[in-house]
Amino acid sequence: MARLQAVKVTHSVRSRRVDDRFYRHLVSNLRTGVLAITRNGLLAVMNDIAYRSLGLPPQTNDLGRPFTEVLVDCPEVIGVLQAAFDSDDLPNRAEMRLRRTGKAIGYSLSRIYDDDGQAAGATLFFKDLTQVEQLEERERLRDRLATLGEMAAAIAHEVKNPLASIEVMAGVLRRQFRDREDAHDVDVREQLDDIIKEAKMANAIVVEVLEYVRPIQLQPESVSLIAVLAESVTMAEGKIPRGSVVMDMSVDPDVPDLTADAHQLRQMFANLIANSFEAMGGRGRVRIRARLLMGEVEPLGGTHSLPSRVRVEVHDDGPGISADDLERIFSPFFTTKPQGTGLGLAIVRKVVDAHDGTIHATSALGHGTTFTVTLPVTPIRPLSFTKDGT
Ligand SMILES: Nc1ncnc2c1ncn2[C@@H]1O[C@H](COP(=O)(O)OP(=O)(O)O)[C@@H](O)[C@H]1O
Ligand SMILES: [Mg+2]
Repeated sequence: MARLQAVKVTHSVRSRRVDDRFYRHLVSNLRTGVLAITRNGLLAVMNDIAYRSLGLPPQTNDLGRPFTEVLVDCPEVIGVLQAAFDSDDLPNRAEMRLRRTGKAIGYSLSRIYDDDGQAAGATLFFKDLTQVEQLEERERLRDRLATLGEMAAAIAHEVKNPLASIEVMAGVLRRQFRDREDAHDVDVREQLDDIIKEAKMANAIVVEVLEYVRPIQLQPESVSLIAVLAESVTMAEGKIPRGSVVMDMSVDPDVPDLTADAHQLRQMFANLIANSFEAMGGRGRVRIRARLLMGEVEPLGGTHSLPSRVRVEVHDDGPGISADDLERIFSPFFTTKPQGTGLGLAIVRKVVDAHDGTIHATSALGHGTTFTVTLPVTPIRPLSFTKDGT
């Protein structure tokens, strides 16, 4: 009898140990932050995601310590957990911003009841909302740009016509002074040249502002990347003198045609290449490389495979960008050039976003610059496009 009991005990201890391990693995592998405390305020569970989201370094001996000590740097989380036993109305799907990491999290708080129905502890489940927030922010920006775009289009229209008149009239006047050679007439001619140049530049700015604020309306078609890139180089040369800059272009043979707006892609790559020409001042090398990415998994995207995408790198060995500037280059109106509009990269980002792509830049002063654009071969959601093509 005694033996039998002993066997039974070992058996049940072993099976309980297996269960405990299983639950521990379950919690630590959840893709949700989990924190649990006991009724007397000790930390019982804290998984890796919770550490990461809260920006705390994992410590092996945290479990069993008062949760107020472990979470001392996250007072807002302490506050939520402390409220767990105060009322029956526990927050569900609530949101808060963590001061320490700046992350927004969505969370639910529940009580843990034991077999006798007594509250044995509380648990907090939470999910990082930062990415969701960024998506919403982008949506809002799109809306704002749509309204701004209508306004700017109207203003640009009003400004463009007088600008064109100024350019034309200055041109007519200059022709009248064409063959006159006395000093005064030469002066007048030079001033007229200046007027024409400035009017052209003002017009180019108006066109760029319009391009930036106008809601993008893609006209998707089947696009050969190599053709688009070649045309972009020509367009960039039209904007900025290339000088003796060497161009290397390689597109892997397995890169398929993209479903995209060829005109917008040309503008986008031309802006990147023009920036490289400008940065290098007529000397150096621009390397463009395009390759196919197949079903590689994004770092945060879980384990599902992704539709194929194409990655294009535009690299130059120019002067590079300082770390401070690098954070701001995509912001509209950020420029380090006396005559710059700071809209080139803002337009680039807009075109990439409209294609559901991504872009980032890496650079260091003195070490050149690389822009990496990733575009889906076929967009997941249909790209917006208009029937009348306006
Ligand atoms: N390839 C590059 N090399 C160095 N700096 C660059 C490069 N591309 C962009 N930049 C920096 O980013 C800024 C913003 O670029 P952009 O939006 O095209 O506006 P703009 O060309 O009118 O200044 C530039 O003024 C420059 O400082
Ligand atoms: Mg530019």
